Order: sequence, then C-alpha cells, then structure tokens
Amino acid sequence: MSDPGEDLELWNAAAERYEEILTEGSDWRQGLVLRPAILEFLGNVGGQEVLDAGSGPGLLSIELARQGARVTAVDASERMVTLARQRVSAQSEAITVLQADLCCELPFQNDAFDAIACNMVLMDIREIDTVLAEFCRVLRPSGRLVFSITHPCFFMWFWEKDEAGNELFKPVDDYLTIRSDMNEFWGPTRHYHRPLTYYFAKLHSAGFLVDDFVEPVPACSRTPELEHVWRVPDFVVMRALPRGRAT
Ligand SMILES: C[S@@+](CC[C@H](N)C(=O)[O-])C[C@H]1O[C@@H](n2cnc3c(N)ncnc32)[C@H](O)[C@@H]1O
Repeated sequence: MSDPGEDLELWNAAAERYEEILTEGSDWRQGLVLRPAILEFLGNVGGQEVLDAGSGPGLLSIELARQGARVTAVDASERMVTLARQRVSAQSEAITVLQADLCCELPFQNDAFDAIACNMVLMDIREIDTVLAEFCRVLRPSGRLVFSITHPCFFMWFWEKDEAGNELFKPVDDYLTIRSDMNEFWGPTRHYHRPLTYYFAKLHSAGFLVDDFVEPVPACSRTPELEHVWRVPDFVVMRALPRGRAT
C-alpha cells in the first residue's frame, strides 16, 4: 500500500526535473495537447476566480492570468510551491500560490471559485473522494471543473514497435483492475490506475455531472513523429458541472 506522505516526497524530489521538462521546449504534451484542451473547455475566464488545483510549477496559472483570470494556485509539494512562486512573482500579480493538500479540507469558503482547473493531477492522488467533494464545495453553482488525466485505457501500456522504432500498437490488458505503479518520467512518482467508470462514478457521488469529454490530439497538423498520438490518445479531458446546473 502506498503512503501519501511518500507520494509527496517523490513530487518534492521530482519538482526541478518536472519543471525543466515542461519548459525545455520539446514538451508537446502540455503545450500542444493538454493546455489547449483545458483552456477550450474552461472558456472565457476574464475577471473570474480560478483555482489551479495541483498547479505544479504554475505554467497553466500563468496562462490563465494572461487571459484575465484571478488565479489561486495550490499544490501540496513544498518544492513545487517554491518553483511556482518564483515563476509567478516574475510574471503576474493576479496569481496567489498556496501550499495545500487536495485530499484535505481546502482553505477556501464555499462557492469561492468560478472555475477549477486540475491538469494531470487526479491520477497521481491516492483517493479522490475528498478532492472531488471539496471541489464541489468551493465551486459556485454556476461554475465548472475542468480536469485532465492520462488516458486510463492506454496509458499503462507501452507501444510495441517495429525494428525502425515506429509505434505499431499497444497491448492492453487488465484495464479494469485498480492498482498503482511508479512513473519514471521525471524521477519516480506514483500513478494510480483507475478505469474511466471509476472517474464517472466518483464525479457523480461528489455532486458533479460530466458536461463534456474529449480525447485530445495535438493542436497542430499531423506530423510523422506524432502520428501515433492520432491513433491512440494519451489523455482524457473532462468538464464537469455541479449537478442541477448542467444543461
Ligand atoms: C503531473 S504534476 C501536474 C502539475 C501541473 N498541474 C501541470 O500540469 O504542470 C502533478 C502535481 O500534483 C501535485 N500533487 C500530488 N498530490 C497532491 C495532493 N494531494 N494535493 C495537491 N497537489 C498534489 C504534485 O505535487 C504535482 O505538482
């Protein structure tokens, strides 16, 4: 069984490398796939209060502030919070960075936010019941939660490749079993595999209704290097509304 304190220590240790990967220019996943999809689902954030939940080094917060939002960025990792503060203080006064654990009661009043963005966080958290219940509490009834996760149907499995290194297919198995594994992208961090059904059920229990859902592909023309991403998507992005408000 994993230990939440240990999970956060791993994020503290990974923070610098994570930030480097995001900013070194070759990270098409965030720049071309995730951020465009998240921003599209959020829509106009001008003048709105937006919570960037699990903000990491704060790149999405900065983009949201650029679009006119007042952003509160929270992350449980002390190192991530330090990196976000450094990045944000150089760029925007519209962003407040706080250290807070999404698995605990959040330090905000009810109905504090017009929108919550939670980019690539929920599949790294051991239990999401409290997280989603707290999101529902701090979101205004007219608000929206937009989150991304790794695509549960495909992420866990590595590509079978031909001799030239071309991606052929992914051998998917044991999709329905909930389990945790280590990622090694930026140093070890823990990943929690849960099928899509799990996320829909937990959103429903917390008081959300899924309003939109996309398996985003890169926001660019199809290139040979990324061709496999159009065949097997890496991510899922969902928008959920507090129930009773969905149309
Ligand atoms: C994959 S990173 C995503 C960071 C950022 N949203 C982005 O897209 O660059 C996952 C983030 O979740 C944070 N995190 C993990 N568990 C958390 C928790 N219980 N509460 C708050 N943040 C958490 C980690 O510290 C890390 O910054």
